[in-house]
Amino acid sequence: MNKRKILATSALPYANGSIHLGHLVEYIQTDIWIRFQKMRGHEVHYVCADDTHGTPVMLRAEQEGVTPKQLINRVWHEHKADFDGFHIGFDNYYTTDSPENQEFCEDIYRQLDARSLIAKRSVEQFYDPVKQMFLPDRYIKGQCPRCHAEDQYGDSCEACGATYSPTDLINPCSAVSGAKPERRASKHYFFKLSDPRCEAFLKHWVFESISSPCGTTPEIRSRLQPEAANKMKEWLSSGLADWDISRDAPYFGFPIPGTARKKFFYVWLDAPVGYFGSFKNYFKRQQHSQAEIDEFLRPGGKTEMVHFIGKDILYFHALFWPAMLEFAGYRTPTQIYAHGFLTINGQKMSKSRGTFITAESYLEQGLNPEWLRYYYAAKLNDSMEDIDLNFDDFVARVNSDLVGKYINIASRCSGFILQKFGGKLTGLISEENRKWFNQFLFCQLGEGDTFLGRHTSIANFYDRREYGKAVKEIMLAADVANQYVDRAKPWVLAKNSDHDRELHEVCSVALNMFRILTVYLKPVLPKLAREAEQFLGVEPLIWKDANSQNRLLPDDHQINDYTHLMTRIDTRQIEALINANKESLQRPVRPPQTEHCVTTMEKSAPVTAAATSAKDAGNENAAAAPTITIDDFGKIDLRVARIVNAEHIPGADKLLKLTLDIGSHPRIVFAGIRSAYDPEQLIGRLTIMVANLAPRKMKFGISEGMVLAAGDGSGPYLLSADAGAQPGMKVK
Ligand code: MSP
Ligand code: ZN
Repeated sequence: MNKRKILATSALPYANGSIHLGHLVEYIQTDIWIRFQKMRGHEVHYVCADDTHGTPVMLRAEQEGVTPKQLINRVWHEHKADFDGFHIGFDNYYTTDSPENQEFCEDIYRQLDARSLIAKRSVEQFYDPVKQMFLPDRYIKGQCPRCHAEDQYGDSCEACGATYSPTDLINPCSAVSGAKPERRASKHYFFKLSDPRCEAFLKHWVFESISSPCGTTPEIRSRLQPEAANKMKEWLSSGLADWDISRDAPYFGFPIPGTARKKFFYVWLDAPVGYFGSFKNYFKRQQHSQAEIDEFLRPGGKTEMVHFIGKDILYFHALFWPAMLEFAGYRTPTQIYAHGFLTINGQKMSKSRGTFITAESYLEQGLNPEWLRYYYAAKLNDSMEDIDLNFDDFVARVNSDLVGKYINIASRCSGFILQKFGGKLTGLISEENRKWFNQFLFCQLGEGDTFLGRHTSIANFYDRREYGKAVKEIMLAADVANQYVDRAKPWVLAKNSDHDRELHEVCSVALNMFRILTVYLKPVLPKLAREAEQFLGVEPLIWKDANSQNRLLPDDHQINDYTHLMTRIDTRQIEALINANKESLQRPVRPPQTEHCVTTMEKSAPVTAAATSAKDAGNENAAAAPTITIDDFGKIDLRVARIVNAEHIPGADKLLKLTLDIGSHPRIVFAGIRSAYDPEQLIGRLTIMVANLAPRKMKFGISEGMVLAAGDGSGPYLLSADAGAQPGMKVK
């Protein structure tokens, strides 16, 4: 087989937050693919890094009273420990704040400039006169210019879905200092994506099919998944705009050459370049030559570069990144594999429900990381669909498949071999037992007599990222192994020494099956596989071990003592995990911050949304609002309201539609609380509403008021009234 040479990456996690189970979908997906390719004998280099630059890190460091470098150094260790805990086998886990990365960024910038692909234009932006900095869109709040919803971020409206520029906001204010921002002009640097050369290149690049560089995978592949290619088609047909790649000081990042540290590269410029930075750092440490580095980073080499990413960052990876590389004289990605988002029990991860689960808490609670790896594998496919972690299903699958089917084979058969046959297997197998072994090794294709080696079908599934199908096939093989043991009944054979020969054969065949299942599962369960190898007394298993002509271990092969390889999940562990993640909310996570932004009433929704979805979001701010008079307060008609109905709105991922009884006609209110509440749990509850808010036309209908909820990044927590309060009562 020809050896493929692959540089593979997962997206670089922000140094601004902890690794959670959502992130792990990606790192586990990538890690499985890479372990599989390595087992096949390919040369694969898996690099990643923390994505360290930008305003959120700068501001968070300031709040914590440390320098940005101190902050990112601490977070790097946290992230690294989390990844190690889940057996993510990076060949290099680095940082974007590195000399290698800076050198690449400067070079790319200079090359683009030399090819007249950098433009400089004055841009008017919001400036915080108190903080003396330009404000990223996500740090400005105000009223939506379209639907007039209050307290919206500077780039898009959570209520009506409008996207706009922050200067369009009505009554904007800075989320950093609370000051009223000023509009100021400043020179910005742009990558001219609108240049016809870029467009022509991208159109070709996206739809061009690629044959496998070494001819190992027979089919011609496309660069992007069909859904991703469709997205690209949309973006390309609506015309490409130039990309603003500079930010003004103060900024934590790399200064743009020739700007006397007044301008910095925008974090999204240096982040993907961080893949190169990490790779170069790794290859240099491995004493590789410049030519060997260039083989992966310059065009023309016979190497592949594949990026695993979430669907939310496709734009950056499939538009800006390849165009930037192409015109700066570097190689472009061979393939981009985008995956969907994780939901937990069918809903978005939620801090109040305890399903915003950090990697650290999962490990701290003593859950086995390989349970999660197995479960994700069982759910993953090659599409961009979201995947759901359903805890009941999680427990059932791990217990019944992994422990009940796979581990069970070893635990049922090892004892006899060890006790009766001195730990030695036999290689002399009768025709009948061999038949079973063959049935285990091959799967039937359709009705006929065509059989395919499972090692081939499973390998194809892994290679195409169809892990769910791979796991299914592996479990079918495990079923055959268990049927075999069930029929042969070694525990009965063991009762009569006349049957020792048969007992020896059956247990030997079963352990050979276990060994091959271990090969199949090794990309998913690297630690367990290591322990199984130790028990079986074999060298580290590679894919060929499931494939070689003589698939049985030799006669007299010696195995080692068996200690139970994996325990079942106890549902109480899941409860404890969820509680631990709820509890962590009660601990103050960060020092208090200030904000003077308009109303805090509907704040919780955008805040929660920002924490999980905004790609340039920072920390949210808690409020100490300016003083108002009692008359000001009296203007707000607050009422006790009973929620008589609550429902999801198709197409709205943040809002719930509430029908409120306040004594008079029922009011419809769209509330941004979906992330924290199930509609059913709200029905019948009393809450507080602003009853005299001007009705507001939203994308989904007219909202006739507002319910009150608290939130500062966690939550939202809906306010309620004590028993006895009646719908319509005034709140004073
Ligand atoms: N820093 C950028 C990536 C820069 S790559 C040059 C970033 N960081 S992130 O921490 O927000 O996300 C890292 C990866 O995890 C992304 O690919 C993202 O899509 C993925 N996920 C983050 N949350 C996720 C889920 N809830 N579910 C699945 N994947 C998720 O984006
Ligand atoms: Zn709006």
